[in-house]
Amino acid sequence: MAKKKFARESVTIMTEMVLPNDTNTLNNLMGGRLMHWMDIVAAISAQKHSNRIVVTASADSISFKQPINLGNVVTLKAQVTRSFNSSMEVYIEVTAEDIPASKKLTTHRAFFTFVAVDQNGRPIEIPELIPETAEEKELYEGALRRRQLRLVLAKRMKPEDAQELKSIFNLDQPS
Ligand SMILES: CC(C)(COP(=O)(O)OP(=O)(O)OC[C@H]1O[C@@H](n2cnc3c(N)ncnc32)[C@H](O)[C@@H]1OP(=O)(O)O)[C@@H](O)C(=O)NCCC(=O)NCCS
Repeated sequence: MAKKKFARESVTIMTEMVLPNDTNTLNNLMGGRLMHWMDIVAAISAQKHSNRIVVTASADSISFKQPINLGNVVTLKAQVTRSFNSSMEVYIEVTAEDIPASKKLTTHRAFFTFVAVDQNGRPIEIPELIPETAEEKELYEGALRRRQLRLVLAKRMKPEDAQELKSIFNLDQPS
């Protein structure tokens, strides 16, 4: 592996204002527009970690907790949680702010996976990630079981090989 990089080096923040063209008929931000912004901010974060071209491999655990209203200012913060061989998991947190009302809420969270590729689109090895803060360490620890879950669901891993996942449910313990 080329070198190690700190999680903080991948932090990427993007700010947008919800305009009429971004909304549905209830004057709330459309989910598809938000996912587009998530994909961009997360891809930039993955590029910062890998210094490579990256492609989106999966988008999961997107929770739509609150609607975001027309005129709100949306801030998306992305950070790589853990890198594997060519792939890395990126955590995205979204806050929506009504500035005139002085209200700010965390509205969405998601995990995206990106794969670093060479000029021919072939997966390529990336640096190891070092978490430093308590939150970064927690995200790093959980990344392994989230990876196993998504690879099992994508039929890229056999459930019996997902050791981290099995350990949560004590599946190897005799009943
Ligand atoms: C992602 C992609 C490069 C993987 O290529 P591949 O030939 O399947 O390569 P591999 O099987 O060697 O897998 C490479 C990595 O991708 C990861 N991966 C592949 N599919 C995945 C999925 N659905 N979810 C999470 N990770 C995935 C693998 O776990 C592996 O990770 P690792 O190297 O860290 O162990 C390829 O499927 C691709 O180009 N997909 C299209 C990407 C794209 O166009 N995205 C834009 C959205 S339209």
